[in-house]
Amino acid sequence: MNYAEFYKQSIDDPQAFWGKQAELISWHRPYKQVLDNSNPPFSKWFVGGETNLCFNAVDRWVETQGDKPALIAISTETNSEKVYSFRELQREVERMAAIMKSLGVGKGDRVLIYMPMIAEACFAMLACARIGAIHSVVFGGFASNSLATRIADAQPKLVVSVDAGSRGGKRVPYKPLLDAAIELSEYKPNRVLLVDRGLVPMEWVTGRDVDYAAARTQHMDAQVPVTWLESNEASYILYTSGTTGRPKGVQRDVGGHAVALAASMKHIYCGKAGETYFSSSDIGWVVGHSYIIYGPLITGMATIMYEGLPIAPDPGIWWSIVEKYKVTRMFTAPTAIRVLKKYPTEFMHKYDLSSLKTLYLAGEPLDETTSHWVSSELGVPVIDNYWQTETGWPILTIVKGIEDLPTKLGSPGIPVYGYKVKILNEATGEECGANEKGVVVIEGPLPPGCMQTVYGDDDRFAKTYWNNFANKQVYSTFDWGIRDADGYYFILGRTDDVINVAGHRLGTREIEESISSHSNVAEVAVVGVEDKLKGQVAVAFVILKNAANVNSAESKLAMEKEIMAVVDKHLGALARPARVHFVTLLPKTRSGKLLRRSLQAICEGRDPGDLTTIEDPSSLEQIRLVMQG
Ligand code: PRX
Repeated sequence: MNYAEFYKQSIDDPQAFWGKQAELISWHRPYKQVLDNSNPPFSKWFVGGETNLCFNAVDRWVETQGDKPALIAISTETNSEKVYSFRELQREVERMAAIMKSLGVGKGDRVLIYMPMIAEACFAMLACARIGAIHSVVFGGFASNSLATRIADAQPKLVVSVDAGSRGGKRVPYKPLLDAAIELSEYKPNRVLLVDRGLVPMEWVTGRDVDYAAARTQHMDAQVPVTWLESNEASYILYTSGTTGRPKGVQRDVGGHAVALAASMKHIYCGKAGETYFSSSDIGWVVGHSYIIYGPLITGMATIMYEGLPIAPDPGIWWSIVEKYKVTRMFTAPTAIRVLKKYPTEFMHKYDLSSLKTLYLAGEPLDETTSHWVSSELGVPVIDNYWQTETGWPILTIVKGIEDLPTKLGSPGIPVYGYKVKILNEATGEECGANEKGVVVIEGPLPPGCMQTVYGDDDRFAKTYWNNFANKQVYSTFDWGIRDADGYYFILGRTDDVINVAGHRLGTREIEESISSHSNVAEVAVVGVEDKLKGQVAVAFVILKNAANVNSAESKLAMEKEIMAVVDKHLGALARPARVHFVTLLPKTRSGKLLRRSLQAICEGRDPGDLTTIEDPSSLEQIRLVMQG
């Protein structure tokens, strides 16, 4: 079958199409209906069916390939490497599940996981899935305030964390940030389960904190049966940034999620049981959920969890992993490739990379130079994927497993089966013609695996995503895009206040709120500015309350550092602006709305666009001057 037919089937008859894909996973009880779309935008997949993500990712493979590798945990930070077979993984997950149960966690309870890339994080995610608890993984790079908002929203019964992570040989304590976050949050979790890696000393809170190693010895022989879940029950919450400062809890289901990932592993990633998959992302991001933990394991592939930098001990480390574990499919972000491109290619060529079939890149725009370079050096095709935390799996790509259609440089490809992608004119909501810029939207129902709702806030889900065009209920991706005459799409950046730093999604509002908390800050605007290495960086423009002592170059630098330190403390170094500039005026409309797009355009040396509504044009002059200075 060619791809056009495959795609058409998915759109014309989703019931038959997804019913077939559902055979890729194991069901405890068959579903009664493939799709129930009677209450849009809340679509339900595989209604009445019962299954379990952990069973599909682990137990099912124990029967057929129990001694084959399942999880390969490598840390170049602690010089450790451990391979867990499917059988060993099952044992560890059951131990973790038994500990969770002994701490009072049951079906539907939330468990917040704040951990670096270590095997126990994988055990914790799968243990939640096993007992029907809902995990919410928070990226380890986030600091106390980010963590506190997530704790308050998810209200976890249990938090699983560690003493520390490590980055570039430097220990990064987690526990003090977690303690501070719990202090900040009105809601307090009952218990905190801590993996003590022996990296930094910890202060234990009596009655609340539990030592994982000690608890594990109590449950060495634990057998914890799988809790079967109805397909539409929640499996996890993953917070992501949007237009407001309040992160949204993207909630995913069980059955649709498992089917969508299994299908993508087959058709898009062409992965096979017994092979090894290597995604360099982090479990704190959606790529880590879908394509480090669940996707590969559901397919019976071994998956690699890597803690460390791509350039340490040297820039050949990833390629050495590919050689050693005969990785067939690799997934990373363009920024990582741009970093590796700065080093001699010997670091790549000294390894036997013949196992590698395809490299997948996602999360941010893929520039032509990077794509060309890595594809020709590796001698394998490079496939760009465009998707979002909300969808959980690719929206646009080349579905190689069905038909090896040509790629086009600069384009992630064409709509993936199941997604009715359209480009709409922002103002009129009409469909754009070829090469006409508009908003990338998806007509409902979204295919399986996409977000069900915003955790605890159905109204926010409907209003935020489905209510952006008058008289049209379509899902907005909040990305600009164009479709060319051949049907290939090009993504042109976000329509909202989200920025993308090295493939990491951040909300400028959250950064602004953090900076505003500095006692000398009167007003602040943060925008994303193009950067050759990271794609974008955050740049802040601040109006001080009292600028009298901040007039020399030194005092400005000192204040800039102070503000950066505030962001580090609240949100984490990841969100720290690359620069903080001081101005006396911000570009606003006469009604007081910040002209964000004009501000960003000036920073990137582009035309600021329509300025008829601007209150005071000299504000833009100031921005121009500080950017030049
Ligand atoms: O703006 C798009 C950009 O990243 C956003 C989603 O980020 P996140 O929720 O972190 O999910 C990442 C999943 C891979 C999108 O709205 N984006 C993602 N992939 C691409 C991209 N922009 C251009 N090209 C891509 N391939």
